[in-house]
Amino acid sequence: MSQKKIFLALIAISTVSFLLHHGGHLNLTLEAFWFGCPISMASSTRGSGGPSAKHTSVAFLKTHKTASSTVQNILFRFAERNNLTVALPITTCDHQFCYPRPFSAHFVHPHTTPPDIITSHLRFSRTELRRLMPNSTIYITILREPGAMFESLFTYFNQYCLSFKRVPNGSLETFLDHPWSYYRPEEKDSMYARNTLTFDLGGDKDRPSSEAPAYARRFATEMERVFSLVMIAEYFDESLVLLRRLLSWDLNDVLYVSLNMRTPDSKSRLSSENTAKIRAWNAIDSILYDYFNASLWRQLRELGLSCVKREVQLLRQFRDRLVHRCFGGHLPPLRSAAQIMNKELRPWQPSAKVAIVGYDLPVNMTQKGRVPPPDECLKMIMPEVQYTRLLLRSESLRYRKRFPLRSSQQTSRTVGQARAHKESRSLNPQTSKTMSQSTKGALRLSQSPV
Ligand SMILES: *[C@@H]1O[C@H](CO)[C@@H](O)[C@H](O)[C@H]1NC(C)=O
Ligand SMILES: *[C@@H]1O[C@H](CO)[C@@H](O)[C@H](O)[C@H]1NC(C)=O
Ligand SMILES: *[C@@H]1O[C@H](CO)[C@@H](O)[C@H](O)[C@H]1NC(C)=O
Ligand SMILES: *[C@@H]1O[C@H](CO)[C@@H](O)[C@H](O)[C@H]1NC(C)=O
Ligand SMILES: *[C@@H]1O[C@H](CO)[C@@H](O)[C@H](O)[C@H]1NC(C)=O
Ligand SMILES: *[C@@H]1O[C@H](CO)[C@@H](O)[C@H](O)[C@H]1NC(C)=O
Repeated sequence: MSQKKIFLALIAISTVSFLLHHGGHLNLTLEAFWFGCPISMASSTRGSGGPSAKHTSVAFLKTHKTASSTVQNILFRFAERNNLTVALPITTCDHQFCYPRPFSAHFVHPHTTPPDIITSHLRFSRTELRRLMPNSTIYITILREPGAMFESLFTYFNQYCLSFKRVPNGSLETFLDHPWSYYRPEEKDSMYARNTLTFDLGGDKDRPSSEAPAYARRFATEMERVFSLVMIAEYFDESLVLLRRLLSWDLNDVLYVSLNMRTPDSKSRLSSENTAKIRAWNAIDSILYDYFNASLWRQLRELGLSCVKREVQLLRQFRDRLVHRCFGGHLPPLRSAAQIMNKELRPWQPSAKVAIVGYDLPVNMTQKGRVPPPDECLKMIMPEVQYTRLLLRSESLRYRKRFPLRSSQQTSRTVGQARAHKESRSLNPQTSKTMSQSTKGALRLSQSPV
């Protein structure tokens, strides 16, 4: 036999054994296989020797106005499906970990320790997170193009952040012409008005402009050592392809619908001149963004762009199928908060000037006699504040069941013991908890002001 024939025979044999081992994921594997994905990708879907472990310790640094609520929702649902613990803020911290104060392990509700996952807003502190999270934790974050991001921040926090509020007529152009007339670095909430990404990552948003480029490059390499993946909002689905591989998760684990968006008419298009001004004003963020965008594309090219493209298509197909299963047809229509009947699905509104839209269930689904959509479907469209509250409730219940005699004072001393207990069990993807226990009655909760 010629070498070529032996080679072809080997390919045939490995393909067949491949298919035999990957029954449930046949389509994904097959399609990915033919569209130029490396074999290692397919085996990360499921190892051949039984189910390969999905990675379960994740710290996602949730940045502002970067599609991070959508990532958070993916992580929340993964945690629930797999009976994992999500670190949640104590109630005095609101639904964030006392942001903008630097993160401290004291901000974590004791009933939500030891955690597997952390994803609520916080200002990054490497040492504090290390103290809290398991050693095997994978760190992830997401950045967005500074022009679009700043426009979004300016609109969203227009009435909330004083640096924006004092701008006449709420005009972004006016702000950009003379930012120092409106911006006060020491003022509360000033982090929304300059280098917000840098601030969220724990950096110095007000580094003088002469030092900014060198500082930003140093900071970027430092962050690159901490974060295994920096997602980019403009390439969200492509970022999910990398995320899924990094964590050895299934495609089904990263399906989503977009959350916490504005109505199209509250967005304004930026001229290239204004984009340039925004980039100059947010110089550190801009360097960070370019650095990590380049890094993302390097990783995508390493994987093979045709493979990535194919998987993005599959992701969208799977999502459409899920939406079909959940809501019978297409997504529930986007509605302004006031129009959403179900309080649990109403997104938080930063001010009367910006409309953050959400989803409401179609009337024919809420009617009597209709089978309501399963919990997972509702969770997929549930805004962050309500979902956080829900998780805290179910985790507290679980905690009290697990440690019935423990008083809250004992909690901190025994976190170590609980972690040891937890690390000894491994995650079996087949024995996932259904969500229904934790959501019973959830949709009747009332919403308190944020
Ligand atoms: C594979 O794809 C076909 C057609 O696209 C579909 O009918 C079938 O249900 C898929 N199988 C799996 C296991 O997803
Ligand atoms: C985590 O790392 C620290 C410091 O390297 C070490 O002291 C500790 O034993 C590790 N914990 C586990 C559970 O491996
Ligand atoms: C603000 O708006 C008013 C009327 O809408 C206009 O007269 C005024 O010139 C505007 N001011 C600035 C600084 O654009
Ligand atoms: C991100 O990087 C890619 C590849 O270098 C480039 O084509 C693209 O324009 C960049 N995107 C943004 C928004 O800068
Ligand atoms: C609800 O109504 C919409 C539009 O009339 C339709 O597309 C959808 O399939 C219906 N859903 C159910 C569950 O009947
Ligand atoms: C979920 O976790 C709790 C507490 O550790 C445990 O008692 C329970 O058996 C777990 N359930 C599943 C399905 O893993």
